[in-house]
Amino acid sequence: MSISAETKAITPPDIRLRKGQAPLVCLTAYTTPVARFIDPHCDVVLVGDSVGMVLHGLPSTLGVTLDMMILHGKAVRRGLKRALMVVDMPFGSYEEGPGQAFRNAARVMAETGCAAIKIEGGEAMAQTIHFLAARGVPVMAHVGLTPQAVNTFGGYRVQGRGEDGERIRRDAQAVAQAGAFSVVLEKVPEPLARWITEEVAVPTIGIGASPACDGQILVVDDMLGLFGDFRPKFVKRYAALGQIAEAAVAAYAQDVRERHFPAAEHVFGDAPKTVKGGEAA
Ligand code: KIV
Repeated sequence: MSISAETKAITPPDIRLRKGQAPLVCLTAYTTPVARFIDPHCDVVLVGDSVGMVLHGLPSTLGVTLDMMILHGKAVRRGLKRALMVVDMPFGSYEEGPGQAFRNAARVMAETGCAAIKIEGGEAMAQTIHFLAARGVPVMAHVGLTPQAVNTFGGYRVQGRGEDGERIRRDAQAVAQAGAFSVVLEKVPEPLARWITEEVAVPTIGIGASPACDGQILVVDDMLGLFGDFRPKFVKRYAALGQIAEAAVAAYAQDVRERHFPAAEHVFGDAPKTVKGGEAA
């Protein structure tokens, strides 16, 4: 199948070249239909391990497995033509060392068809990022608040306030120098996000990290108002689809109870006729 100019897929080097250019538009997706409608508008679609909390009702991302990421990755792949697809490596699938990370990342890439993976962690992951990047695995890094380390942080707090900013700065530098093609900065204060964006050679993609970043990412269910009452400061709600869906379900329930649904237009055919030979038409 030939790919037309409009549908040429965005690659990790394309994203790398967007440093300091027009802001990168990134969203998460976990299913084919959502991937389909966000694809024309996004540069990057991340199959985030947030899927565990958003779609599976888990209390954190720690219970997400490689099989879950692969299942959702395959679904998202079927919905994308243009955006770069990145799949999150779940907790426990890469931290042991470069060998484990490569084995699991290669499986994710081969089975989902994604062109890149994302891993959480800064300096401690630099060697692994270098190993992967040198062996055909493009890596998006993730520093600042890294949700897989929620127990170490003691909650989902803003990271890098005051002197702690130095730690996040070193993390961002280390992953960029190790060969990550971009770095997600999560929940860090504005001046720190600005410094890091000015300092590192690869695009920064912010989530709760101010407009100073080279791009922005949100969890799609959060910005569509589909994920309950979860409303952190950094999320802008562009729709209230959860409320719309609930009102629709309530209207359906009432229609069924009052026998208004199905109406004549939802019912098939005429009453059965008897034809010669006794068979019903
Ligand atoms: O899992 C996720 O959705 C993420 C984000 C950066 C949004 O890692």
